[in-house]
Amino acid sequence: MNQDHQPEIWINPPSQLIHSIVKVDASYSPWLGDLDFQNTYQKIKGHTLVDIYRCYELWSLAKQTASVEGAILEVGVWRGGTGAILAQSVKEIPSKTVYLADTFSGVVKAGENDPKYQGGEHADTSLSVVRELLHSLDINNASILQGIFPEDTAENIPGKISLLHSDVDVYQSSKDIVEWCLPRLSTGGLIVFDDYGFSGCEGVTTYCEELRQNPDFHFIHNLNGHAIFIKMK
Ligand SMILES: C[S@@+](CC[C@H](N)C(=O)[O-])C[C@H]1O[C@@H](n2cnc3c(N)ncnc32)[C@H](O)[C@@H]1O
Repeated sequence: MNQDHQPEIWINPPSQLIHSIVKVDASYSPWLGDLDFQNTYQKIKGHTLVDIYRCYELWSLAKQTASVEGAILEVGVWRGGTGAILAQSVKEIPSKTVYLADTFSGVVKAGENDPKYQGGEHADTSLSVVRELLHSLDINNASILQGIFPEDTAENIPGKISLLHSDVDVYQSSKDIVEWCLPRLSTGGLIVFDDYGFSGCEGVTTYCEELRQNPDFHFIHNLNGHAIFIKMK
């Protein structure tokens, strides 16, 4: 720590993304007092790579966009943990379908923006793993799409999108998914990126920095590793 109580900064080199150790001092923890969330989280936590802070934020954001027109879409499901959180959070809203899209054979489209990825990561899952998790939670409002999104499976989604959760780890998939979603995203709708700012997921952070130039969105950098874009018009 330096005298301003700011963490030391490592710049590597200046033209690239800057990282430091981020320490958060706020301690209010509403996820501990939300029994519905806790009941779900305890059942899915072995099926997700996403920490409780981001899981609770997805739970909360999905509920907040309940009245925004359109379906919820998650691309990057792996073993179904965050997808189940999203579906369970809006279970009581009959009109809200949740689409869960994954190759179920791992990450695709890794490229020069993704120094830690080669393709094929997170292949240790299957469609039936996710189907069984949803069944165990009595979730009936979710539809699983197997294949590369958007090329293979987007045609199965009619109408608008109210919330996109993009958790695909790399630059080109993030970009292709968002470009498919942009004309379908309702005003007031959200795009939530996982892995924003994580060391190793530079491709996602780089793409979010590009999307920040889009004047139709307000942007929130949540220090938990979510980038949140709110469509304003
Ligand atoms: C980090 S995992 C998702 C983690 C998950 N959300 C959780 O709750 O732990 C990333 C997933 O994205 C999937 N994926 C990456 N690019 C994709 C694409 N373009 N279309 C479909 N799935 C993709 C991979 O197969 C992998 O399962």
